[in-house]
Amino acid sequence: MANTILVTGGAGYIGSHACLELLQAGYQVVVVDNLANSKLESLKRVQEITGKSLAFYQVDIRDHDALADVFAKESINAVIHFAGLKAVGESCEQPQMYYHNNVYGTLVLTQVMAESNVKQLVFSSSATVYGAAEQVQYTEDLPIGAINPYGRTKAMVEDILRDLSASDSLKPSQSPWKIAVLRYFNPIGAHESGRIGEDPNGIPNNLMPYVTQVAIGKLAQLSVFGDDYPTPDGTGIRDYIHVVDLVKGHIKAIEALQSEKFADGGCKAYNLGAGKGCSVLEIINTFEKVTGRKVNYKMAPRRAGDLAEYFADPALALRELNWKVEKNLEDMAADTWNWQVNNPQGYN
Ligand code: NAD
Ligand code: UD1
Repeated sequence: MANTILVTGGAGYIGSHACLELLQAGYQVVVVDNLANSKLESLKRVQEITGKSLAFYQVDIRDHDALADVFAKESINAVIHFAGLKAVGESCEQPQMYYHNNVYGTLVLTQVMAESNVKQLVFSSSATVYGAAEQVQYTEDLPIGAINPYGRTKAMVEDILRDLSASDSLKPSQSPWKIAVLRYFNPIGAHESGRIGEDPNGIPNNLMPYVTQVAIGKLAQLSVFGDDYPTPDGTGIRDYIHVVDLVKGHIKAIEALQSEKFADGGCKAYNLGAGKGCSVLEIINTFEKVTGRKVNYKMAPRRAGDLAEYFADPALALRELNWKVEKNLEDMAADTWNWQVNNPQGYN
């Protein structure tokens, strides 16, 4: 019998890679996306690469009736919820827009899911929910303490999902919620085909897209934000994860939700990261080695809100989801570059 996954935000960077892996793994895929930060071209290419088709609905997840129509038309087994806004700076400028999109949007989605009795959900959370923890290697049991509106939308949605799951004990006659909250570290890279990848609007905020645009000559120079952190080379340390490894973690989560492990329901958070930190200078050096291109950079002051160092403890995901990363930093650099040179203007 078909196992159909509704992917919200499926036209976006991570969502399009998830659709590709889901199709290749034999799932049926239904995408809901309002195309606020993506282009349909990504899904056209996903279908070309896989030779399989998916269903697409241009719907805003906050539109209850339009979303309910999708659930009525399609026979959905589980939802992977990527749809959301993700720029930290923009969330500080326009917090209401972020709470409305990310928090209210998830309330509408879970309401429609409950009405349709679809209760398997994988949610895109972020390592940003840990805020400034005392230890640098994050375990899932650390307190939540996001430090910007974007991060708080993720923390709030996590709370809502835990409350929803807890409410099951008061309704024993209903089927329980089965929820996996996935806390991503720093996703970079692209599919090895070089046909889908990250296509940021305007000047990128994040490190890897900035590095590639400098290497290809679209941007003049990278600013390295801070060389005086208490790290071995003074630059910030993060846990970079290849987007294809990341989306495979979602398929492992779906498998777990549909297995005996979640027979009684529950809401559980998992870190998705490599478990290893890497500095800004290491990223630049690896990128230069793999691509043979120079990355013009200068040292600059620290960026407000940045932490010196953090990385994942991904042991729980290995133990309970049977997932770990397979790709290394060289793969991430090579695949990002392959996408960039083949698509200098992104999907345009
Ligand atoms: P993205 O912007 O490329 O994809 C998000 C998609 O959601 C876009 O296609 C956008 O059009 C769609 N969307 C936004 N609001 C919507 C709405 N109200 N209704 C329907 N569609 C809507 O971002 P991404 O990098 O693919 O991130 C996907 C998810 O993962 C987001 O929730 C993001 O917060 C989370 N996340 C991303 C990162 C990262 O570094 N990229 C890290 C941690 C968590
Ligand atoms: C940022 C967000 C985080 C979000 C994540 C993925 C902030 C404070 N945090 O994480 O909430 O989940 O993106 O979307 O924005 N760097 C430079 N020069 C640059 C860009 C970045 O030196 O031009 C450095 C940063 O200081 C950091 C590292 O590169 O040390 C990674 O930065 P970035 O890719 O923006 O990710 P995060 O800041 O970790």
